[in-house]
Amino acid sequence: MNAASVRPPEPIPGAGTPRLVVLISGRGSNLRSIVAATRDGSLPATVAGVVANRPEASGLAWAADEGIATRAVDHRGFADRAEFDAALADTIDALAPVDGQNRPWVVLAGFMRVLGERFVQRYAGRLVNIHPSLLPLYPGLHTHRRAIEDRALMHGATVHLVTPALDHGPIVAQAAVPVLAGDDEDRLAARVLALEHRLYPQALRWLVQDRVTVRDGRVLIDDADAVAGRLLLDPSFLADPGLLVAAGQHASTESGSAA
Ligand code: GRF
Repeated sequence: MNAASVRPPEPIPGAGTPRLVVLISGRGSNLRSIVAATRDGSLPATVAGVVANRPEASGLAWAADEGIATRAVDHRGFADRAEFDAALADTIDALAPVDGQNRPWVVLAGFMRVLGERFVQRYAGRLVNIHPSLLPLYPGLHTHRRAIEDRALMHGATVHLVTPALDHGPIVAQAAVPVLAGDDEDRLAARVLALEHRLYPQALRWLVQDRVTVRDGRVLIDDADAVAGRLLLDPSFLADPGLLVAAGQHASTESGSAA
């Protein structure tokens, strides 16, 4: 048998396309950026469905208008977290059934419920979150307010794989913004959100292309232990060079002034 006689099977259109089930609680602006990226081809995946724990979430109505399958699993209707988590998992699995090796990605995009360990284990390695802080700083709520109150100079967002510990887990990519004089919560949140909309589709692209591995809790992209491309900087860092001082430059300036 020569090589020419071994023909690969004809590809089945759409088969094997990575599927995302996106979980939201509110307006869903990250959801929109993800859907836009799947449509412009920069994120080679399809959104199989959107699930909200609040039926009134405006992102759910938006997704339905876009022709995406939507489901509401109202957490208020369940006796406890375990029951809610189980119903949520059933809903996800019905929207995107496991198909051989093709398991769906569960994408938390502004999903404001803590998920129990059992749920997290069920989707281990396929469960992704975006959190509006430079983790491990500021897990939990009100991250922008806390950064301002702490007089932090830098803030941001993190895309990470989800582990049972809240807002923990291997970091896939981060975005950093300066905290500027006069910032209030809304201004800072808007600056972070603008980068979230670029960060999440990019990180998901690496994930769905199976380019992400985790070694000793550290994410590798294409097996490389490098940060290249994984740290997104707010444009103001570049527009105003005074915001940044390279460490080497800083040291020589200091020694220069001391001389
Ligand atoms: C984002 O800031 C996200 O990081 C956080 O909740 C917010 C959701 O915003 N988890 P949206 O619903 O995607 O607009």
